[in-house]
Amino acid sequence: MIELRSVTKEYELGKTKVEALRGVSLKIERGEFVALVGPSGSGKTTLLNIAGLLDRASSGTVLIDGSEIGDLSRNALAGLRGGKIGFIFQGFNLVPVFSVYENIEVSLVLAKAEGNRKEWKERITRAIDEVALGGFARNKPAELSGGQRQRVAIARALVKRPEIILADEPTANLDSKTAFSIIELMRELNEEERTTFVFSTHDDRVLKYARRVVRIEDGELRE
Ligand SMILES: Nc1ncnc2c1ncn2[C@@H]1O[C@H](COP(=O)(O)OP(=O)(O)OP(=O)(O)O)[C@@H](O)[C@H]1O
Ligand SMILES: [Mg+2]
Repeated sequence: MIELRSVTKEYELGKTKVEALRGVSLKIERGEFVALVGPSGSGKTTLLNIAGLLDRASSGTVLIDGSEIGDLSRNALAGLRGGKIGFIFQGFNLVPVFSVYENIEVSLVLAKAEGNRKEWKERITRAIDEVALGGFARNKPAELSGGQRQRVAIARALVKRPEIILADEPTANLDSKTAFSIIELMRELNEEERTTFVFSTHDDRVLKYARRVVRIEDGELRE
């Protein structure tokens, strides 16, 4: 469903160039549960951003369901980003002044989701229940624990019912118990709804849960 072919990414830092990805080829099929592991600075976030269409490759090809994204219009790309792909960012990116409910609602607004007020409410409430945060809908992120915030971030991706969720370090900064519960939740969604997951981690504790492990070092894959 997502395929990268010989993707490179260079960042310019003043006069120096950083080669964050050096020819990465990777194919993710529907229903997979993939861990992307590698040391800090190896290119995990860069790879996820490019696979999630948040950033562009310097060279190489990105295909979604067999179509090259270079051939798609701006609108088509925005539609893919909004509907098909959910993203969980490194460090949550929740809006501090919004409640849990509103943070999840933003996702439907940005995705230009269909449905009336009542249908939106049902979808948001269901997502909140799925991440076991019923009762916290009106709370602000600052009133939640790290694990609860991470679950809001998952609900926000989930509410769109995307086919694939790309998660950047979803268990970073969580204690072991909470980290396992986050990974278990992702596994459940993977098994019950066939949501495809690709998550980056340098957390060895969660690796045994992955069905496939892709290793990245210095911008190159070693599967
Ligand atoms: N916006 C940017 N401008 C310049 N260089 C960048 C930028 N983003 C990332 N880099 C560089 O690209 C390389 C890969 O960074 P990336 O964030 O993808 O690594 P990572 O594997 O996600 O690391 P971490 O585990 O610390 O999150 C690093 O050398 C980093 O310094
Ligand atoms: Mg990163």
